[in-house]
Amino acid sequence: MSDATEPGSYFVANYPPFARWNKAAVPDVLAAFAAPPTQEPLGLYLHIPFCRKRCKFCYFRVYTDVAAADVERYSRALAAEAGIAASQPAVTGRRLRYVYFGGGTPSFLSVKQLERLVGGIHGSFGWDDAEEVTFECEPGTLSEPKVQALKSLGMTRISLGVENFTDSVLEVNGRAHLSAEILRAWDWIKAAEFPSTNVDLIAGMVGETTDTWQQTVEKTLALEPDSVTIYQMELPPNTVFVHDAKETGATTAVADWPTKRAWVDWAFGRFLDRGYSVSSGYTLVRDPARVHFRYRDMLWEGSDLVALGVASFGHLSGVHYQNATHWDDYLSAVESGRLPIARGLRPTKRELLIRELVLNLKKGRLDVERLRHKFGVDPLEEWAHEWRWLEAEGFLDEIAPQPVLSRRGLLQVDALLHRFFGPEPAAESG
Ligand SMILES: C[S@@+](CC[C@H](N)C(=O)[O-])C[C@H]1O[C@@H](n2cnc3c(N)ncnc32)[C@H](O)[C@@H]1O
Ligand code: SF4
Repeated sequence: MSDATEPGSYFVANYPPFARWNKAAVPDVLAAFAAPPTQEPLGLYLHIPFCRKRCKFCYFRVYTDVAAADVERYSRALAAEAGIAASQPAVTGRRLRYVYFGGGTPSFLSVKQLERLVGGIHGSFGWDDAEEVTFECEPGTLSEPKVQALKSLGMTRISLGVENFTDSVLEVNGRAHLSAEILRAWDWIKAAEFPSTNVDLIAGMVGETTDTWQQTVEKTLALEPDSVTIYQMELPPNTVFVHDAKETGATTAVADWPTKRAWVDWAFGRFLDRGYSVSSGYTLVRDPARVHFRYRDMLWEGSDLVALGVASFGHLSGVHYQNATHWDDYLSAVESGRLPIARGLRPTKRELLIRELVLNLKKGRLDVERLRHKFGVDPLEEWAHEWRWLEAEGFLDEIAPQPVLSRRGLLQVDALLHRFFGPEPAAESG
């Protein structure tokens, strides 16, 4: 990978890569739903694909300029899909351990729309005894009554997309909010006393300088969130920035990778000074004994995840799947009573091991015993060559008893994970 921030997706969200998921595996996914459940924990993800504006760096499936009737139709479809999913043998009667409202922008919905949506989902899934219910918010969509409604509806973890505190940076990158809306929203969130709060930042937005970055970090520290998640700016191919650059022939002015890593390193230092602890290559938490991130931790350890909504990603009984990625395809499937699954993949046992290994490494230290016990393979022996290479390059502080990434390794963990990928499908044994 070159130092320049070139168009491409570097963040490793799953394994095997999405490019290998296919339509031919849909029967495998349906068979997983129709079979008895595994013993894994169960989570629920709901995709709310609406935003006030499309940020120029964003690659998610989102719709802007939607009518209230579209939101209503989509909410009814989510409730219908929840009903279909909850009646499948692999899901029925199971307790939800965690719920995640992601997007898009779940907070785009009005209080009335949220109440109707949650009411519709509760017909099939309750989350009173879930350990965590996360809700993603864009600052400018919040109001004091909406924040209070989120508390009453059972949300336990509010994640706020702050990204940056400099108005000119927010504007150039196409964010719909300015810094004043962040501060206003944060007061309401604090006053509502959610069990957990998170702030998302992106290091290296267009127009970012060392000064704007350091101010963003200082202002985030002043908010005292329970956790902070810091992404390094990427330019995935399906973003406004990349389309614009193709049309004009100009490159998008994003800082290079070493600069972004230096900025994140500086931010990690500041948060550590204030008593935060590192909980992954992207996240720091204020009180690790109290603040957990169940969605991440359970998903990365192989939990089942029922995914609702257009283009949502799920995982059930060891099988990956994704829902229809277009509005009409998604709605027509659900409205005719079918699960809207468009593609999937049944990984081999070895691929599931690699998946858990790479996702676990994103937290900075490998739980060797857990993987040994679950998969009957010793990852220290199996990838001995890779561990030695990582150590020799300064990416690992130690190999045994558990590989522990150095700060340098942690800040570029996604680029390192590819060393564990493979073998290529043609050579797989199943
Ligand atoms: C679904 S959004 C969060 C909620 C809400 N839509 C918002 O943006 O405020 C998830 C997060 O992904 C991150 N993100 C999106 N596009 C990115 C990119 N190209 N590079 C790095 N991070 C990105 C942003 O930090 C964003 O907050
Ligand atoms: S970053 Fe958030 S608000 Fe911006 S387009 Fe993506 S999902 Fe919407």
